[in-house]
Amino acid sequence: MSNQTATARAHTNIALIKYWGKTNSKLTIPTTSSLSLTLDHFYTETSVTFQPELQHDQIIFNQKLLSEKQARRISNFLDLVRIQSNCQAYALVETVNHVPTAAGLASSASGFAALAAAASRASGMDLSNKELSRLARKGSGSATRSIYGGLVEWRHGIGDHSSYAMPLSESPQWDLVVIALLFDKKQKQISSTIGMERSKQTSPYYQDWVKQSALDLKQIKRAIHHQDFTSFGEIVEANAMNMHALTISAQPSYTYFNGQTIQAMELVQQLRKQGIPVYFTLDAGPNLKIILQRSNLAAVKARLTSVFGQDQYVVVAAGPGIQYLK
Ligand code: PMV
Repeated sequence: MSNQTATARAHTNIALIKYWGKTNSKLTIPTTSSLSLTLDHFYTETSVTFQPELQHDQIIFNQKLLSEKQARRISNFLDLVRIQSNCQAYALVETVNHVPTAAGLASSASGFAALAAAASRASGMDLSNKELSRLARKGSGSATRSIYGGLVEWRHGIGDHSSYAMPLSESPQWDLVVIALLFDKKQKQISSTIGMERSKQTSPYYQDWVKQSALDLKQIKRAIHHQDFTSFGEIVEANAMNMHALTISAQPSYTYFNGQTIQAMELVQQLRKQGIPVYFTLDAGPNLKIILQRSNLAAVKARLTSVFGQDQYVVVAAGPGIQYLK
C-alpha cells in the first residue's frame, strides 16, 4: 500500500540491566538479555508515507532535511521494511525527537521504535508487538524494548526469531521516578555500536560480564517480584558500573563519564548515607539517571537544585508503549 501516512509515537527507555555487545551485528542479537524502564518524558514522533514518485528516501529530522549520507542508517532500515512488506516505493519520513539526541538518553531507542511502527503500518503491514520488537531491534538494540511501556525485558535469543522484548510489568509496583541529569546534550564521541564492539573484542572482563549479567537479571526479577526496592537499586547500580568497567578496561580505553557524572555519583552515595534510598544508572553518555521512589522526590530535588541548579535535571516516570497517532 502506498501514499498512506502512518504516524507513531515511541518513548525512550533507560536500561536497568544493560545490553552491551552483540553475537550477531547484522541482526543485532545481543550477548546478554536486558531489562529497561520506558520513560514518559522523552519520546519520538514519526510519520512515514511511501510515495512511488520519490527517487530516494526523504528524511526530515526535527524539521531539517537530512543529506543522503546522514539518512543512510534510516534508509537501510527502510530497506528492511520494503523487503518484508514487498513495497517498492521510497518514503517520506518526518520525525520529531523530544529526546536530547545521542547524549546517552537512547534517542535511537525511541527513534527506531517509532520508525518501525510507522513504516510497517504505512507499508501496509499489521505487525504484532512481538514482530515490531524484532523489526525495531534491527534499527537499534535498545529500540527492541521501546515497543512496550513500564518494565520491559529483552531476551537475547539465538537468532532473528527468538530475540525480542516482552513486557514485565507495564505499571511497576513502586512509584518509580527517574531524575535525568542533563550534563551534556552533545553527540557522543564513541557510539554505542563502536563502544560495545571494542569492549567485547578487547576487555579481559567481557566473559565475566556476560555471566554476571545473567545473575543480575535473575536477581532483579526476584527483587521486582518481592517489591524490594533496595535490592532492585543495588543491582541496577552495580550492573551499570560493570558495563562502564568494560569501557575503561577496553583497548584503547574510553569512558562516557565526565567530571559532573562522578560528582553526581558521589552525591547519590551521600544521599544514601543520610538514609535516602536512591541509586543511579547511566547509558552510553555522561548523563546520570537517579532512580528513587516518589516519596523521596522532594528531598532529592532540593539537594540536586542546590548542587547543580534546577535546569540541569528532568523528573520522569514510567511511560507507555508504542502509540499510533493517525
Ligand atoms: O541501542 P544502542 O545500540 O544505542 O545501544 C544501547 C546501549 C545502552 O544504552 C548503553 C544499554 C541499553 O541496554 O540500552
